[in-house]
Amino acid sequence: MRSFLFIPGDSPKKLDKGIGSGADALLIDLEDSISPQNKTQARATTLAFLKEAVPVKQRPRIYVRINGFATGLTDDDLDAVVGGHPDGVMFPKAEGGAAVIHCDAKITAREAIAGLPEGALDIIAIATETAQAMFLAGTYVGSSKRLKGLTWGAEDLSVELGAEANRDRDGHFLAPYQLARSLCLAGAAAAQVQAIDTVYIDFRNEAGLRRECDEARRDGFTGKMAIHPGQVAIINEVFTPTAEAVKRAEAVIAAFAENPGAGTVGIGGVMYDRPHLERARQLLARAKAWT
Ligand code: COA
Ligand code: MG
Repeated sequence: MRSFLFIPGDSPKKLDKGIGSGADALLIDLEDSISPQNKTQARATTLAFLKEAVPVKQRPRIYVRINGFATGLTDDDLDAVVGGHPDGVMFPKAEGGAAVIHCDAKITAREAIAGLPEGALDIIAIATETAQAMFLAGTYVGSSKRLKGLTWGAEDLSVELGAEANRDRDGHFLAPYQLARSLCLAGAAAAQVQAIDTVYIDFRNEAGLRRECDEARRDGFTGKMAIHPGQVAIINEVFTPTAEAVKRAEAVIAAFAENPGAGTVGIGGVMYDRPHLERARQLLARAKAWT
């Protein structure tokens, strides 16, 4: 999935708009965009939406962002929405693989109650929202079969660190958040799950969004979260492999196919070895999915 659009779970209007946004996945939010007094209503609105939207054949993937363990709201969130059979749950303020195992167990119980097969719901964890989480980013490996992606957050982390800002004047992330981003990337690669870049909150700034998407793709992220439907097209475009990139990948695969025993080949004066072959295969798989 390239684009993941956040939609406040208490807004039927935005939920309807999100379905037609072109996003590969919707992240229906019960957490930060919902005020404490609206949590109950947001759960009901979200469940009603799931009942309507999930059975539709051609639709984006649908995830619900629940509230983190420290809030005491996680169980009520899961009680409310698992029966609506979303494709998965976004798990915020995750603190390592142990927390994902805990979340997995909570989901398993609700799947049984709802009569869903075990493992029906995936987990995408937000891996860097607390200071402690930063030190646990390498512990997601093998934690749960449900875990399909890791993403990171700069907003909650900056509150926890007591920072005045998380970006410099040009909009670039400051050092603590670059570290969080890198830990997410390495943690996801180690766990062999998708690395998903964080939100870009300056939602009218298309050039800034595009730059951040380009940098994310360059570094190994394969998707990005959005907070506004206007961001979806740019994210989809940047994370769809270009015709040129596909051609290059096909050339690498062809060169190795012609030299089955080779560990390394030369194409146009450049050396390619086995890791390049693996990268070419991954790129073609993404291109096949999205074009
Ligand atoms: N999902 C679906 N629809 C959205 C949307 C979203 N995330 N954000 C905006 N829209 C809709 C608006 O309702 C509006 O619909 P309309 O044309 O039918 O009136 C249209 O898109 C244009 O919106 P716009 O006026 O440009 O923005 P806004 O001021 O209404 O909303 C935000 C700005 C930031 C409040 C809104 O984008 C939002 O709620 N984003 C998600 C926030 C969130 O979930 N945060 C948690 C994760 S960090
Ligand atoms: Mg948050």
